[in-house]
Amino acid sequence: MGDFMRIGVLTGGGDSPGINAALRAIVRRAEAENVEVIAFRDGWRGILEGEGAPFTLADVSGILHVGGTILGTSRTNPFRKTLRDGETVWEATEGVNTITENYARHGLDALVPIGGDDTLGVAHRLSARGLRMVGIPQTIDNDIAGTDYAIGFHSALATVTDALDKLHTTAHAHHRVLIIEVMGRDSGWIALLGGLAGGADVILVPEHSFSVSYVEDCLRRRLDRGRRFSIIVIAEGAKPEELGGAQVTQGEIDAFGHVQLGGIGYWLARQLQARKALQLTPRVTVLAYLQRGGVATPFDRLLATRFGVAAVEFAMDGHTDVMTGMQGTQIVPVPLASALAGSPKPLDPELIRVARAIGLA
Ligand code: F6P
Repeated sequence: MGDFMRIGVLTGGGDSPGINAALRAIVRRAEAENVEVIAFRDGWRGILEGEGAPFTLADVSGILHVGGTILGTSRTNPFRKTLRDGETVWEATEGVNTITENYARHGLDALVPIGGDDTLGVAHRLSARGLRMVGIPQTIDNDIAGTDYAIGFHSALATVTDALDKLHTTAHAHHRVLIIEVMGRDSGWIALLGGLAGGADVILVPEHSFSVSYVEDCLRRRLDRGRRFSIIVIAEGAKPEELGGAQVTQGEIDAFGHVQLGGIGYWLARQLQARKALQLTPRVTVLAYLQRGGVATPFDRLLATRFGVAAVEFAMDGHTDVMTGMQGTQIVPVPLASALAGSPKPLDPELIRVARAIGLA
């Protein structure tokens, strides 16, 4: 592609540490090929409003370790979710035409959207309209199929592990049950791996519904062994049988049709407290947005750097409707259709086996 001149970049959806490392790598790799980079602010909103601006080495200097995204983010969605014959379809709004016009007006040869399944879903639908798209998976939830890891997941795990280390000491001192609610939406990757790394006693994930009696039994077994404190890690999307498998939500629905999750930790605490049989006092910590903040771990910086370099190279090689994926130690182009169809990525059964093998519930 000798005439490849200009690449656009944007960051959408929930942020996470590591995005800036990817932006830096994109600009550096593009610069080496004399490819100009145009940045759009706040996710799809930036290109919708036609606000592209040159993005240069000076802009990405010193951002490798900085969390968040210097481009800003949003959950703007140029498609509308509707139900047709019982099936979900994404209808294009007028915004899709505007994006197509702005893509052409900026002279883009490709666009690199960095984000989770929502952001990448928009990229997939725009590629069907002839816009070259090479996405980069970024979400602390790690729920995108076709890649072992998404940018941000390891950094969120580091936060959860650090929190569990700290909470252990106070749980132990007070002989308490501590419930830690973590993010992940419908996916239990953060809960399972964070719980494993941080030594939780009970891990509750959305993929397997649970009953309060089951949790109580786990705690009682620990009490019987003389363990007077327990750490329960619960994913925000966990599904209690007592609620018929429904999730605890906050009611707010975003532009992609997701209801805001949260509150399951307090719900579980109330249920356990109501069962007076256990003379334990559950306390709740909701880690919430702390999991999306802070500096990126070395793993995330390396992953983001590799993804950034690969995205530019894949685009220049003529790929479209793909995202960068890490499979084993390789970075490969993954068709967005398969990545999205397989999402949310199921939990690794081997990790579930390991958790059970060491007695975790
Ligand atoms: O997808 C990342 C994530 O942090 C989820 O874990 C969480 O459910 C959601 O975003 C929260 O979204 P918002 O930033 O809109 O509150």
